[in-house]
Amino acid sequence: MANTILVGAQWGDEGKGKIIDFLTDEVDIVVRTQGGNNAGHTVWIEDKKYVLHLIPSGILRDDKLCVIGNGVVIDPIGLVREIEELEREGVRINGNLLLSEAAHVVFPYHQLLDAQREVIKGKNKIGTTKRGIGPAYGDKAARTGLRMIDLIHADRFEEKLRIRLRENNEILKALGAKPLSFKKVHDSYRAAGDRLKPLVVNTVIHLHQAMRNGADILFEGAQGTFLDLDHGTYPFVTSSNTTAGGACTGSGVAPNRMDHVIGVMKPYTTRVGEGPLPTENVQIADMLHAMGREFGATTGRARRCGWFDAVATRHAAILNGIDELAVTNLDGLDTLETIQVCSAYKCDGKVLEYVPVDYETLSRCEPVYTPMPGWLTPTDKIRSWKKLPAKARSYLKLIAEMTGAKLRIISVGPARDQTILI
Ligand code: GDP
Ligand code: IMO
Ligand code: MG
Repeated sequence: MANTILVGAQWGDEGKGKIIDFLTDEVDIVVRTQGGNNAGHTVWIEDKKYVLHLIPSGILRDDKLCVIGNGVVIDPIGLVREIEELEREGVRINGNLLLSEAAHVVFPYHQLLDAQREVIKGKNKIGTTKRGIGPAYGDKAARTGLRMIDLIHADRFEEKLRIRLRENNEILKALGAKPLSFKKVHDSYRAAGDRLKPLVVNTVIHLHQAMRNGADILFEGAQGTFLDLDHGTYPFVTSSNTTAGGACTGSGVAPNRMDHVIGVMKPYTTRVGEGPLPTENVQIADMLHAMGREFGATTGRARRCGWFDAVATRHAAILNGIDELAVTNLDGLDTLETIQVCSAYKCDGKVLEYVPVDYETLSRCEPVYTPMPGWLTPTDKIRSWKKLPAKARSYLKLIAEMTGAKLRIISVGPARDQTILI
């Protein structure tokens, strides 16, 4: 499959986990390159559900190598918990997972600061996952972060943590939160560091050696295009580059070594957390929630839902260089008589065909809808493009055309085999 970057083309939770698991069959290595355990990637294997937060979704195939790259922020306590849970399920970790020495470490003060800043923001809160992601990337940019290489070296770690905790305890107190005990943080992190030490390597060198030996790599995106720190609906975004470029900086694999980009999207829109969502619609949210769908894999929050937003996915195709699309959750629309597609926005008397940079402008945008007839037929048992209802095919062709990329995969259910390759 050569080197492929897989990104979310909307606001996250597009079904990336399922598609990554499916595509992993064709590659040798799966690499996470950004984000942290704010991600929740769901994979069903037969009747067993796995939710991956930090570990690449490729881990469920025993003969593949998974790598957490330098661009990821790692909560070592969360990672050890995730490893132990997977090991209990019989998933092999040792030998199948490598962690970058340069990945930054998420500390409890990051999590407390994340939560406290949300409280202070009140009604303007971002709706973060409270996993400490923003403050951890903040420390990275401020050059005050600790990396995995620091965590696994006892002496160095103690000295650096002491300095960081002194400063962060003052900040926590000023923001109305309790300071942290050095000993508690130190001892729990050192224990996690000892468990993770055998997995920590120079992943850049490892990936390049593997590529020289002919390995094909899948770069597993987390979150989605409109949660990108630079290109999303700032400040209602996450703190990493979720767009395709993040796969390069977050792994140390150069842009000219990437062969193609796959965008994963739903044939409708969801978002969890605050911020503008032009096509938000209560009826479609109620319908999907009543089916037991669209609840967050990380926080359990009900996702906000809306009609397909082609302005957004077209913009995502440009930002990421999306060549091919994987459309998941087609079956979610099976019972609708009419489906609306947003083809443009109306804003301040103008028609917009791109997503405005300013979230306040985006909040004023009114979608211009094109109605499409629904297919009113269950699709979850269909396994070929030809057997999909004609109206479903027309709908899929339209949304791909409006997005400006080729249809490659259609998913009609969470299981591996509920997948149609085009
Ligand atoms: P991710 O964060 O992009 O990996 O997506 P999540 O796992 O957070 O959310 C996607 C949800 O949709 C999960 O519950 C998946 O099991 C589910 N899913 C993925 N593809 C399909 C599909 O085609 N049909 C149905 N019914 N569920 C799907
Ligand atoms: P996956 O990989 C959906 C959202 C949060 C919040 C904003 C900032 O499963 O698609 P953060 O904790 O990152 O500082 O929160 O980003 N968010 C996600 N939404 N899917 C995700 O990951 C997300 N990760 C973060 O809800 O709005
Ligand atoms: Mg998710």
